[in-house]
Amino acid sequence: MDKFVIQGGVPLEGEIAVSGAKNSALPVLAACLLTKDPVNLRRIPPVRDIATMEKLLSHIGARVSRKAGVVTVEAGTIGHPEAPYELVKTMRASSLVLGPLVARCGRARVSLPGGCAIGARPINLHVAGLERLGAVVKQEHGYIEAEAPNGLQGAHYTFDRISVTGTEDLLMAAVLARGETIIDNAAREPEVVDVADLLTKMGASIEGAGTSTIRVRGVSELGGADHTIIPDRIETGTFLAAAAITRGDLTVTGCNPEHLRALIEKLRLTGADISENDCSIRIRVKGKLNSVDVTTEEHPGFATDLQAQFMALMTQAEGIAIITETIFENRFMHALELARMGANIRLDGRQAIVAGPCSLQGAQVIASDHRASASLVIAALAAQGETTIDRVYHIDRGYEKIESKLAGAGARIRRIK
Ligand code: EPU
Repeated sequence: MDKFVIQGGVPLEGEIAVSGAKNSALPVLAACLLTKDPVNLRRIPPVRDIATMEKLLSHIGARVSRKAGVVTVEAGTIGHPEAPYELVKTMRASSLVLGPLVARCGRARVSLPGGCAIGARPINLHVAGLERLGAVVKQEHGYIEAEAPNGLQGAHYTFDRISVTGTEDLLMAAVLARGETIIDNAAREPEVVDVADLLTKMGASIEGAGTSTIRVRGVSELGGADHTIIPDRIETGTFLAAAAITRGDLTVTGCNPEHLRALIEKLRLTGADISENDCSIRIRVKGKLNSVDVTTEEHPGFATDLQAQFMALMTQAEGIAIITETIFENRFMHALELARMGANIRLDGRQAIVAGPCSLQGAQVIASDHRASASLVIAALAAQGETTIDRVYHIDRGYEKIESKLAGAGARIRRIK
């Protein structure tokens, strides 16, 4: 298993370009199952979760090819409308094929995801939404089996709680349902808007994506399209936190600052100097950082996917920062590893109390989940001496060449095979 070895203490300087958003690319790839025509996708990041989704699409019967940065998916015929356990257990987002498969084929068989490092993460709301559209769903041998032999019927569905992939899954089902579907308490994440943009290009009729109420008028067929994925806001935020902790001067390019309002606001409160234009953000930090409390929320609130990175930053800020995680029940595993590096963090249920600044020291640590590993990289960049991070396959799930991007801005980081 690969490891990262990082020598801390070098300020990040220069520019880093962000990749396409992993969490947009995943549902967008699933959406390609809704048509028999080819769909061309640009800026799909070549990361591990995407490779898993491409494998899943191939298993289902689609042809997936990558040429000159364009991924083309052609789902002419669907041989196996199912997501097997082997793929779902490595990536929960595999359940995103449920809605498109039921809509296109009238049936789907998708393995239940099982446990996850950051919380229970059930898909009961995806299932309830599909049932509202008329699918008959049963659970057999660890699989969800959904059927709608006569097609789905538009309906009004209100999510009990906001779910990002749940909204995307139901939206992808609704575009081929007869009549009108109204999705209330919908997720407002930029990734939901990106999926809706692609579906619209494919011929769907959607209003309100990006708000809490999405209206869909079903169509009988969708066609091919060309689409470029939005920039990865979580990767952008990770680099901003990395620059701040090293007291650097970094410009993150090819990003969308509008998708990061909550983080930018919090970073400014820490004392970071931030300037931005349409597609880049420059962050400069000189001197002390102030402690700032954050509470994770659905978009446009502070993203849970940036909580771990912000916690690493707060270990270097003056005073006490209270970090409250409201989305997932077990997303503080990084706190224990940060403590091994010298961080002063106390956990109390859904809150982490971080007292700073502490002197971080290089240590051997283990990445426990995708974003937790990013926070360990950030801490290591500010630590005295050498840090070895084990199990970096977690980081490879969603960050494209993070070590080369950071090294290009001066970080002393290398991968050991
Ligand atoms: N939930 C349910 N039932 C459901 C669906 C969700 O109870 O049917 C609960 C979850 O257990 C959680 C909350 O609702 O407590 C919100 O979960 P959500 O469904 O929004 O999460 P997700 O769609 O599974 C996506 C991202 C995650 C990100 C969350 C929250 C993708 C592929 N994944 O997951 O990204 O943390 O939204 O913003 O879009 C990551 O990239 O590292 C990552 C974990």
